[in-house]
Amino acid sequence: MNPRETIAILDFGSQYSQLIARRVRECHVYSELLPPGVSPQRLRDLGVRGIILSGGPASVYEPGAPRCDPGIFALGIPVLGICYGMQLACQILGGRVGAGQTREYGRVRLRVRRPEGVFVHVPADLLVWMSHGDAVTEVADCFESLAETEACPVAAVRHRTLPVHGVQFHPEVTHTPQGEQMLRTFVYDICGCRGDWRVENVIEAAVTAVRAQVGPEDRVICGLSGGVDSSVTAALVHRAIGDRLVCIFVDNGLCRNREAELVETTFHDHFGMQLRVANARDRFLTALAGVVDPQEKRRIIGHEFIAVFKQEARAIPGARFLAQGTIYPDVIESGHGPAGQSAVIKSHHNVGGLPAELGFELVEPLRLLFKDEVRRVGEALGLPENLVWRHPFPGPGLAVRIVGDVTPERLHILRAADDILLEELTAAGWYRKVAQGFAVLVPVASVGVMGDGRSYEGQNLVVIRLVESRDFMTADWVHIDYEVLATVSNRIINEVRGVNRVAYDVSSKPPSTIEWQ
Ligand code: XMP
Repeated sequence: MNPRETIAILDFGSQYSQLIARRVRECHVYSELLPPGVSPQRLRDLGVRGIILSGGPASVYEPGAPRCDPGIFALGIPVLGICYGMQLACQILGGRVGAGQTREYGRVRLRVRRPEGVFVHVPADLLVWMSHGDAVTEVADCFESLAETEACPVAAVRHRTLPVHGVQFHPEVTHTPQGEQMLRTFVYDICGCRGDWRVENVIEAAVTAVRAQVGPEDRVICGLSGGVDSSVTAALVHRAIGDRLVCIFVDNGLCRNREAELVETTFHDHFGMQLRVANARDRFLTALAGVVDPQEKRRIIGHEFIAVFKQEARAIPGARFLAQGTIYPDVIESGHGPAGQSAVIKSHHNVGGLPAELGFELVEPLRLLFKDEVRRVGEALGLPENLVWRHPFPGPGLAVRIVGDVTPERLHILRAADDILLEELTAAGWYRKVAQGFAVLVPVASVGVMGDGRSYEGQNLVVIRLVESRDFMTADWVHIDYEVLATVSNRIINEVRGVNRVAYDVSSKPPSTIEWQ
């Protein structure tokens, strides 16, 4: 029996599958995404307390549509089917699914006829989020229908004898206001979980796992980027093995103001960690001289990073392991799933992609955590707030935020402007509300007034980019107060020499990207 309460989420490919896992974990119950065809035996071996069948883009009646093993319904473990998951459960257990009369999309009113199952703690009349074209058209006798909407007569079901439940709507999205309560009811009342998933337990489990993996004589190296994931990784591994962890920070000269210092004061001074700072600023700038193509900039920076990192790593005797801040979405997105296989070395990662031929074994203590959990672990480990809540920062740093040639002068201008932006965002209480915020330097001489004349010389445009985003795959520009923009713009133009114009980027992703390059 798995000592940790676990809810398995069988992933039929819904864009919301990860969200289900997060919502369950927010109920303090550990959850894992598993392939849809996982065997009943494996679920039993994992000791799961409940099974959630996710939504998915297919139609259950299409040939080749993903299915679960029908044996999972006979395990006696509670099952909750969501959207496609409910249709699949209904179909496998004797009902029919077909194209619905109308496609239902968005928030709709749900009327609960029988306040049972997941509905025991919510009102009989509520709003839910729907996104489906198919529907259960015939309910098998073994099921009873619990709720309906105007367009969907079978909007929730419950099996008469087995612990199998289904909802056509999406309780995992915030657009279903009572969704969290319904998932909580499933996890606590129906599955009988008590909620043992706590940050302290995560830390304890990670520390034990690192100690079990790394021998008593072995050393671990960790590339610190100043980002959240690598910082929390370092802090966790340090807690597990102390001085046998050596961190490497490659200062590529493309960081923001005071970033290198923050890493040094946090990890060396405060935590007392072994930290090697490789000052490679000149090396990177020389390699980048005259390069304007952004992909070429990325390639050069990645290449230089590996060269410097290798050199530093070689100087650490007995280093067999590489600690890396792979987090759960990386594991899921790399297609490896949670089956315990090792993730490919992160390629879209702040420390840059490290090639496998470096020959290190990977230590990945955050492999099973979502970003918000990583942040909570970071806080519990005593990392400073400005590190834990830092916006993501691309590995190639400011080089991809300077359009055109990267020179020390341009870096200086961008740093100063970016610093003002972040300072004002923080002062106005916006920093934590924004997913990512930064300045971009566009060295286009727009006209300015200098004394009595018009001048173009040495002037640049600075663009402010602020986005809100859940997963950085899509993003919207932030509707920030004009006052904040006015202060930022005034300060940049007055305080940063070489900037005579500030613009605000009002494009969403897609079709624009978050970064300019
Ligand atoms: P885009 O610009 O693709 O950005 O909308 C999505 C997210 O990825 C980050 N980003 C990068 N991160 N190396 C990185 O480590 C890169 O080359 C890179 N390019 C974009 C970007 O900051 C945003 O969070």
